[in-house]
Amino acid sequence: MRGFVDLHSHWVASIDDGVRTIDEGIALLSLLHQAGFSHVVATPHMRPGMFENDKASLEAAYQKTVAQLHTHVGPLPTHSLASEHFFDDVVFERLLQHQGLPYRSHVLIEFPPTQFPQRVAARFVDLKRKGLGVVLAHPERYQPVWENDQCLDDLLDVGAHLLLDLCALVGKYGKAPQKAAEKLLAEDAYEAACSDAHRPADVDDVVRSIERLQKLVGVDEAKRLLITGPTAILDGLSQSNP
Ligand SMILES: [Fe+2]
Repeated sequence: MRGFVDLHSHWVASIDDGVRTIDEGIALLSLLHQAGFSHVVATPHMRPGMFENDKASLEAAYQKTVAQLHTHVGPLPTHSLASEHFFDDVVFERLLQHQGLPYRSHVLIEFPPTQFPQRVAARFVDLKRKGLGVVLAHPERYQPVWENDQCLDDLLDVGAHLLLDLCALVGKYGKAPQKAAEKLLAEDAYEAACSDAHRPADVDDVVRSIERLQKLVGVDEAKRLLITGPTAILDGLSQSNP
């Protein structure tokens, strides 16, 4: 199977905890292409206090990496830029002011690992009023979800889409995220699946995870999560209205 769309990866060089050099970024893209991805969105972190990136600095870093892709011999996936927005007050305000980096009409958001932000469903509605749907990164990696995944219901009710980090399926983050991912898959809760790759070496796990995904949900559902679901989000066609 090919034609996958990766909504979440860190192949822009030296801007966050992703690849450290442009060559490493190119190697990561090349390996993702070999793994079946036709389009890979760069989603570097925007996280005040940890990765002090804003829209302009991320766009500049992306252009710097992209300018060197021609040095690679061999096929690479097509690509675009978005960001993994850490959902604090600063980033929320930026999103309201259209200073984030959406795919098109959806923004990729991550939460702190141990608790959801206050009044988060209402804030997602605020974003919706600004024309922005939400894609929630790796819900299976959040502690409240391990305890009871009903904590996601309010977010789903206001139209948020859940994005599976594939590597949870092979235990990369431990047993609790793996179990949560399998349960959310069984509940048909995900809209798409991604690599969240940070290094070329991560792609081995991504390949194993895609095989495991197909075993767990079958080929058609794997295609929905790897191709049609993420394509609709990328193109702004996915409905995230409640
Ligand atoms: Fe990430």
